[in-house]
Amino acid sequence: MKKSETSNRSLQSNWQLRDSPTYGKIVITIGQMIMENSENLGVDIRKLQKTEEAEKCARLMAGSEPWITLRRTYDNSLKMLRDPSREVYLAVVNDEIVGFIVLIMSGALVGYIQTVAVMPEWRDKGIGSRLLEFAEDKIFAKAPNVFLCVSSFNKKAQGLYQRLGYEVIGELKDYIVPGHSEILLRKSVAPLTEFKRMS
Ligand SMILES: CC(C)(COP(=O)(O)OP(=O)(O)OC[C@H]1O[C@@H](n2cnc3c(N)ncnc32)[C@H](O)[C@@H]1OP(=O)(O)O)[C@@H](O)C(=O)NCCC(=O)NCCS
Repeated sequence: MKKSETSNRSLQSNWQLRDSPTYGKIVITIGQMIMENSENLGVDIRKLQKTEEAEKCARLMAGSEPWITLRRTYDNSLKMLRDPSREVYLAVVNDEIVGFIVLIMSGALVGYIQTVAVMPEWRDKGIGSRLLEFAEDKIFAKAPNVFLCVSSFNKKAQGLYQRLGYEVIGELKDYIVPGHSEILLRKSVAPLTEFKRMS
């Protein structure tokens, strides 16, 4: 999502069009809903530094879908988050960790977003989009593709990636657990031979 689109969300009001016997169609306000966006929330994105930060992220993974179905435990989540080959960035609001994203900048598919997660109570406020936008900026400074995988049952995340312009490359059947696929997605700005690194 572009920043301007994210900002517009805060202007949305909560109203409905109803039929009135006296006045015909009328607009009624059904409540004041504050559509805060990630910029209004004062979200900072910074590198994961401390063990307790990694532990909090690992608890989020171990307690949430899709990782429950994918059988990712607290211990292997923590191991992944502390692996020096990963870059882990936190979304922070007033010193509280509200989400995180994990990048891998080496290997066969550079740059790969391994994981993105937002705390349940902080979802649908633009923080996931903001983390993805941050990761894309980092990756596109060095490589022309962003790759990621999404589970076949994770419809919400699939919708988000589609909206952000990711294309389906292929399906990895029974890749992590039997009965579910991982869908490989890609967003690209140039062929490898025409891409110029910014750093
Ligand atoms: C997937 C996930 C990271 C998305 O994070 P998020 O912070 O909820 O993402 P966003 O808020 O940017 O977008 C989510 C929805 O909120 C909407 N939204 C964004 N800003 C908004 C705002 N200010 N007000 C209301 N809605 C908003 C978006 O349009 C989007 O709608 P959609 O679901 O119809 O596409 C989060 O749901 C999550 O952690 N899920 C569990 C883990 C997971 O599935 N990770 C992905 C693994 S591949």
